[in-house]
Amino acid sequence: MGFWKSLFATSDATPSKPAPTNDYPEFNGTSSTNPRIFFSTDREIDLYDLEELCDAVGWSRRPLRKVKKAIQHSFLVVSMWEQRGAQRRLVGFSRATSDHAFNATIWDVVVHPDYQGKGLGKALMKQVIKKLRSEDISNITLFADPQVIDFYRGLGFMPDPEGIKGMFWYPD
Ligand SMILES: CC(C)(COP(=O)(O)OP(=O)(O)OC[C@H]1O[C@@H](n2cnc3c(N)ncnc32)[C@H](O)[C@@H]1OP(=O)(O)O)[C@@H](O)C(=O)NCCC(=O)NCCS
Repeated sequence: MGFWKSLFATSDATPSKPAPTNDYPEFNGTSSTNPRIFFSTDREIDLYDLEELCDAVGWSRRPLRKVKKAIQHSFLVVSMWEQRGAQRRLVGFSRATSDHAFNATIWDVVVHPDYQGKGLGKALMKQVIKKLRSEDISNITLFADPQVIDFYRGLGFMPDPEGIKGMFWYPD
């Protein structure tokens, strides 16, 4: 945990592209024994890498053409990568949709099981929130699976504030 935290402490808060240029200062000097975590807002994510990440946490597969469309039309995409030498691995992902003024909703928050429990999910969410706040979005919502309510609670999210209920409509 302390190891990852020390990486974040030195990282640039502004997400950068994972490829092709190496414009993120913390990459410098990485080696196979000195892995680094970085964030990116680049939407050009390999959909098979993303599918593999979602498979790893047991999510149902979705048609890739729809995933691609969802990413393209999201307001914000934040991916999290591990760099080990020249190798980069997608280890986390999240995206948000928005009206670009008041509201944003966060979707598809995921950290690869090999990287869970190290503070990375929290770091990923903080990047998303920071980016949304920098766009002056003040109402940030999400839909939490029951088993992760406390994860989001720890980040300041409240279930049903002032009695507000999430309501859903599904086709028959
Ligand atoms: C939920 C998820 C993103 C959390 O990522 P993570 O990297 O393991 O979380 P972190 O290590 O950053 O944990 C941050 C804090 O939340 C807590 N936490 C993490 N997962 C939790 C859970 N399922 N329930 C309650 N608390 C949890 C941690 O104990 C930690 O607490 P601390 O700050 O007091 O130390 C990750 O477990 C995941 O990808 N799960 C599968 C996909 C999923 O369910 N996504 C959410 C869909 S709504």
